[in-house]
Amino acid sequence: MRKLRPLLAGAFAAGLLAIGLVATPAQAQEETPAPPQQKWSFDGLFGTYDLASAQRGFQVYAEVCSTCHSLHLLHYRDLTGIGLTPDQIKAFASGVTVPQGLDDQGQPKDGPATPANQFRSPFPNDVAARAANNGALPPDLSLITNAREGHADYIYGILTGFADPPAGFSMQDGMNYNKYFPGHQIAMPQPLHDGQVTYIDGTPTNIGQMAHDVVTFLDWAANPELVERKQMGVRVVLFLVLMTGLTYAVKRKLWSKVH
Ligand code: HEC
Repeated sequence: MRKLRPLLAGAFAAGLLAIGLVATPAQAQEETPAPPQQKWSFDGLFGTYDLASAQRGFQVYAEVCSTCHSLHLLHYRDLTGIGLTPDQIKAFASGVTVPQGLDDQGQPKDGPATPANQFRSPFPNDVAARAANNGALPPDLSLITNAREGHADYIYGILTGFADPPAGFSMQDGMNYNKYFPGHQIAMPQPLHDGQVTYIDGTPTNIGQMAHDVVTFLDWAANPELVERKQMGVRVVLFLVLMTGLTYAVKRKLWSKVH
């Protein structure tokens, strides 16, 4: 027993060390907390997009985010997916100026967009985009809610997570503190402020509401076929249940003669 004691003590120390090693990455992660979970209309098997929210979100994108972020996988005509009418889309597109090829002199020319145009990109290329944003590239938002771990909750977290840096936190020039961005320093300045847009339906425009709406819009943009896919899934499961029942009934009928 006496010989065992140092052995046991050694094992205990090794155990503590192992716990310490395992605990270190967890502590490091705690520095960037997981964004709080939101309730989304499109969650779950029967979730669908809240179209009123997606339309308000489109307004937020158009009035705020589109000055820096492209959405190049969308065409204006796709907006029927959030319930806009062809006339509304035509009217909106005609107010946007997009490149229209070359004029008679061979110079690039611009003109009003049509529903068939891709969403306008704010910058002609990535170099120009970086030059205007302190060297950082504002990512295209077409697939952003799918592309980031944490999905809709994370994007909501970023939009609502701007704050003053804690005392002693050293910030690089031109960067902004954000609770949920890995490393806490993001080149995007806080894009949403209370009352920034005016909704036609009178919904209050606090930061949380605008973030919720624009994330609903962006999630639809990344998954325009989501509702159809879920409904198809439900139909397939119903069909399989029905077929299983039928097959069983037929089997019983056929085999009943054997006994
Ligand atoms: C003034 C320009 C500007 C505006 C306006 C702006 N952003 Fe950004 N955004 C940026 C830049 C620059 C980055 C890249 C930040 C980085 O990598 O540090 C970025 C990054 C992001 C990211 C990616 C974060 C990540 O995890 O990489 C998301 C999502 C985003 N913006 C959403 C939005 C939304 C939604 C709006 C509108 C409400 C918006 N942005 C408005 C400049 C802007």
